[in-house]
Amino acid sequence: MSNFGYTSGILGIGGVLPEKVLTNFDLEEIVDTSNEWIVQRTGIHSRRILEKDQPAYLLGVEAAKIALNEAGIDAKDIDLIITTTETPDYLSPSTSCLIQKEIGADKASAFDLNAACSGFVYGLTVASQFIATGYYKYILVVACEGLSKVTDWEDRKTCILFSDGAGAAVVGPEQEGYGILQTNIGAVGSLGHNITIPCCYISQEDIENRPNKNKRVVWMNGSEVLKFAVRAMESSTRTILDNAGLTVDDISLIIPHQANIRIIDNALKRLGIPESKAVINLDKYGNNSSASIPIALYEAKKGNKLNKDDYVVLVGFGGGLTYGSVLLKWR
Ligand code: COA
Repeated sequence: MSNFGYTSGILGIGGVLPEKVLTNFDLEEIVDTSNEWIVQRTGIHSRRILEKDQPAYLLGVEAAKIALNEAGIDAKDIDLIITTTETPDYLSPSTSCLIQKEIGADKASAFDLNAACSGFVYGLTVASQFIATGYYKYILVVACEGLSKVTDWEDRKTCILFSDGAGAAVVGPEQEGYGILQTNIGAVGSLGHNITIPCCYISQEDIENRPNKNKRVVWMNGSEVLKFAVRAMESSTRTILDNAGLTVDDISLIIPHQANIRIIDNALKRLGIPESKAVINLDKYGNNSSASIPIALYEAKKGNKLNKDDYVVLVGFGGGLTYGSVLLKWR
């Protein structure tokens, strides 16, 4: 894909995490696991999760307010809200409508987009197309997740990984040559059975897969996802760089989905990118699905890691199975 028409970019970015910290040592008390195993196999030390009675969408509201403030854009000027989530508090109203109400973005249309952990790169891709055609000017992409709500706290293969959080970006017109230069999104539905979160229906096979036959929780074949993730991150990154006529050496910063340090390290190795160019925060936050990339981008911005003219790659993968990447030139 290449962009056409009006150029778009990220005008403001925000990230928010729940206050509650769940450490590996806390998990040792809940399931048969150890801090050592979790750190070695995932790189995660602790994660942030919502309280049981706390909805996820309010994290999205806070992240959206930060992004709007940074962009200097009034919520009333937002044309569209796209919330990326695989864990909406309600199927209806959508999380986008819940957020619209809270921030007073009265003129915005609103819908949710589910591409699991690849959601934010999918969301930026959709937003950039609406702007490219001139259909909309300002779009709020909110990645808002509450994985702890669908976690089986007796399944040690998954409960050590997932967490909650929200990130948001105001996407709007950008000077030509800057902003969102390339995007690449894809899906391999034939591998979708490797991560499932049932909603209104569950197959017999998926009931059997779950250790507690609990229909409302995430289940995953971790090693299959791991193999897919490394390959997808490498090839999606190469695709956007090729399409832009750039090489890996041109990249100043890469912001990968924060799922597992082994996945990130392997993908970076295959790409020939040093870890020093990657933003990594999964040790503190775990995997909060589509929120992980915008939260890491927000932290990179706050940490002054983003400079004018930098080429920045955002790259993710997730349930579906899906994958995607975005090439930004920072202004
Ligand atoms: N603590 C201790 N032991 C554990 C454990 C835990 N939390 N979870 C699994 N084990 C055990 C398994 O039961 C298995 O034991 P066995 O050999 O006696 O059966 C052993 O550790 C190895 O399990 P395996 O699943 O092969 O480990 P792994 O190296 O693949 O690591 C994941 C497991 C889940 C950490 C890893 O596969 C992964 O991160 N995959 C990607 C998942 C992901 O990112 N998903 C999100 C997509 S967005």
